[in-house]
Amino acid sequence: MKILITGVAGFIGFHLANNLLKTQNKIYGIDNLNDYYDVNLKKARLKELNKNKKKIIFYKKNLEDKKFLLKFFKKEKFDIVINLAAQAGVRYSIINPDSYIQRNIIGFYNILDVSRIYRVKHLIYASTSSVYGNNKSYPLKENLSTQQPLQLYAATKLSNELMAHSYSSIFNLRTTGLRFFTVYGPWGRPDMALYIFTKNILGKKFIPLFNRGSHVRDFTYIDDIVYGIKKVIFSKKKGKKNYEILNIGNGKPNHLKRYLKEIEKNLKIKAKIKNLPLQDGDIIKTHSSIIKISKNYAYKPKTSLKEGIKNFIDWYRKYNKVNERKNKI
Ligand SMILES: NC(=O)c1ccc[n+]([C@@H]2O[C@H](COP(=O)([O-])OP(=O)(O)OC[C@H]3O[C@@H](n4cnc5c(N)ncnc54)[C@H](O)[C@@H]3O)[C@@H](O)[C@H]2O)c1
Repeated sequence: MKILITGVAGFIGFHLANNLLKTQNKIYGIDNLNDYYDVNLKKARLKELNKNKKKIIFYKKNLEDKKFLLKFFKKEKFDIVINLAAQAGVRYSIINPDSYIQRNIIGFYNILDVSRIYRVKHLIYASTSSVYGNNKSYPLKENLSTQQPLQLYAATKLSNELMAHSYSSIFNLRTTGLRFFTVYGPWGRPDMALYIFTKNILGKKFIPLFNRGSHVRDFTYIDDIVYGIKKVIFSKKKGKKNYEILNIGNGKPNHLKRYLKEIEKNLKIKAKIKNLPLQDGDIIKTHSSIIKISKNYAYKPKTSLKEGIKNFIDWYRKYNKVNERKNKI
């Protein structure tokens, strides 16, 4: 099969591509390498992908460039498209809303429309647990109301689900939206808690702890996310709906404080904490129900928080050592 991954230089896209390059499929990737966070990390991920025997076919392109997408899809005739490119981040949507409208609304519409025109067999796209807002019916099931997103980020992802629904019903395009729950692991994003905490603790700087660390998150290890996406890619279509929404989470939430403790234990350093109040748009708790994906796709998360954090810190130390050496030369 021909598989296209958008956002391939991003955290999840990179891991998915790395895994799929070991299969018999032909893997294509696009990413605009924007500077929302350190572009060198995105480039390093691409370099890592190129170490594979089988190479990824990569294009540095924008989802907003529909002309390119039309030509590209016409030529390659993809079987599966996995749309991971987006403006991620909950807090940044308060500072830079434009980026969310361009990348998540216009960009997503372009992918949806070219998938329809060139008859992609299955469009899989990233949604988010943020669509549940502060819904308190835990664990959060896919059929709960999602009418009260708390930030523009969640509103754009919710719009993606609605746009996909209309295309699935009118044009018979098969779409599956995946609501990821706080993904963490090696090669993770510098704007997320695990990276910021580790960096600041090692640098002997204060770590900002909102809401006294009382937030609860369904932290999900990257390998479990990739495993879930692969289950959706390779499952038989028979018996599956044309339009589907699935949670991919761990199903066992933890307090941010416990997450931080695990990081301190691994680093063997006590964090210097700066307590900050609850931020605008913050969700207090996420806890995914994974019944639907477990039942229909035999998904089962495997990685404990302890193991996942250790893997991240091992990677972080190695990655930064190499960079330090490079900077000295
Ligand atoms: N990481 C998480 O915890 C998490 C949780 C829920 C949902 N998600 C969603 O999963 C997807 C992947 O997240 P991630 O953590 O890998 O984020 P990421 O920012 O690391 O990856 C996104 C990649 O897409 C690229 N990109 C963004 N806009 C683009 C555009 N218009 N055209 C081309 N490339 C573009 C970026 O350069 C980046 O490399 C996103 O849609 C995100 O909203 C992530």
